[in-house]
Amino acid sequence: MPVQYYPFKLAPVAQKALLAELRAVIAEAPLYTPTMPRTGKPMSVRMTNCGPLGWVTDKERGYRYQATHPGTGRPWPAMPQMLLDLWEELGGYASPPEACLVNYYASAANVGLHQDKDEQDLAAPVLSLSLGDIAVFRVGGTSRSGPTQKYELKSGDVLILGGEDRLAYHGVDRILAGTSDLLPEGGRFNLTLRRVTTP
Ligand code: SIN
Ligand code: MN
Repeated sequence: MPVQYYPFKLAPVAQKALLAELRAVIAEAPLYTPTMPRTGKPMSVRMTNCGPLGWVTDKERGYRYQATHPGTGRPWPAMPQMLLDLWEELGGYASPPEACLVNYYASAANVGLHQDKDEQDLAAPVLSLSLGDIAVFRVGGTSRSGPTQKYELKSGDVLILGGEDRLAYHGVDRILAGTSDLLPEGGRFNLTLRRVTTP
């Protein structure tokens, strides 16, 4: 099965509505700079989460899911209904997502090739939604050195890694600054919906 790609899944009005919900999430659970396991090197993206669980990483304890924001110690805010609806429509999975990882890319941020494999339930897909500037997104197969395909992910695009692509290597090479006027501050938000535990 090829990567499922839904360009412009969210129209501009829906993107604005979701952005307003996202601003409320960030007001409660501020974006922070995550650090890499062992080295403690800061990542170039800033992150937060919503939903019962959130993906976090730091030098001491590495990659994991947890129920609270590492800075505030409070539970993550609820996942906006629009996201739950999108999962129900496109996810092809009976149980709801448990985590929505929010990545914010300023113009110089990127994410190296990696697999999403910290989830217990690999039968569920990972659903990604983009808001703001275009990202040059790269996706390959299940070996790091295999061939990759590029997608220019635009504001409102949805991309799903599921089935045989669930463990595909993927990353963001760069952000094309100034390609969207959705975010007054520029840059890009990426939201990924994940099922973490096996129902
Ligand atoms: C990620 O793999 O965590 C982010 C993907 C993206 O920003 O499109
Ligand atoms: Mn990922």
